[in-house]
Amino acid sequence: MLDVLEDVNAVCPVHGSISPLYLLGRDGVTHQQYVAPDVVFQDQSYDLLLPTSAQLDIGACLGKGTFGEVHEGRLFYTDTRVADRVAVKIVFKQARDRRDISKGFQSYLEQACSAYLTVRQEMSILSRLQHPHIVPLVALNLQPLSLLLMLAPCGGLDAKLRQLEGQGDHLPLFVVRQITIQVAKAMSYLHCHNIIYRDLKSDNVLVWELPGSGDAPPTSGVDVKLADYGISRSVLPSGTRGFGGTPPFIAPEIL
Ligand SMILES: Nc1ncnc2c1ncn2[C@@H]1O[C@H](COP(=O)(O)OP(=O)(O)OP(=O)(O)O)[C@@H](O)[C@H]1O
Ligand SMILES: [Mg+2]
Repeated sequence: MLDVLEDVNAVCPVHGSISPLYLLGRDGVTHQQYVAPDVVFQDQSYDLLLPTSAQLDIGACLGKGTFGEVHEGRLFYTDTRVADRVAVKIVFKQARDRRDISKGFQSYLEQACSAYLTVRQEMSILSRLQHPHIVPLVALNLQPLSLLLMLAPCGGLDAKLRQLEGQGDHLPLFVVRQITIQVAKAMSYLHCHNIIYRDLKSDNVLVWELPGSGDAPPTSGVDVKLADYGISRSVLPSGTRGFGGTPPFIAPEIL
């Protein structure tokens, strides 16, 4: 599936070539109908896909997670000169060196499939949500396969807490209270939309504004947003199954 996005000629042992670029018939016509639309994300709303006229510059790495890396990015649209600052959550980078793949083809396939499922999962949840304390999804980018999110100017809350701890300092109580209230509002909104989050921890709380953070004056307000919906699930009428989370943060009754 991911090979198709990278325009690599993926050859199915039963059906032959499945990559759109290689589906030229003898008549010279491309037969894209052989590619299931969901494989190349064509089942998604056009509003969600990054338009081909947009240019994305990927910069420094902001953080690493289970499924890939998050980089700083700048998004340019042809009709405007102003660039939007985004976070590029790259869930899967094509192994350009095919020899790397042959080292462990099975694990490469597993990674590719789990990246594809994770991006669909996170996108399907985030695209339905709109809340002041939930990270906004900007677009889905296909090459490299990544989610573009609004950039949190002050990064993750975990980094901020570690920095304060290193200085022998801590957040004032009124700030902790505001963060707790904002995260609780986000969780309540998710529950109203029948979504269980499953990964609540400070790494997944992103900071827009915090007194004393970055260039913010000590008197600035508190603004945090909940990110990372990779293992969140929609609750079905038939209930929900499965187990997920980050061990030290999983509720004791689940364990
Ligand atoms: N919108 C953003 N703005 C700034 N930094 C971000 C943004 N999104 C993610 N990050 C940084 O990247 C890190 C990893 O992001 P995220 O938690 O979404 O990825 P993940 O691979 O799903 O991680 P996990 O291991 O928690 O499952 C975050 O902890 C944060 O530091
Ligand atoms: Mg995370």
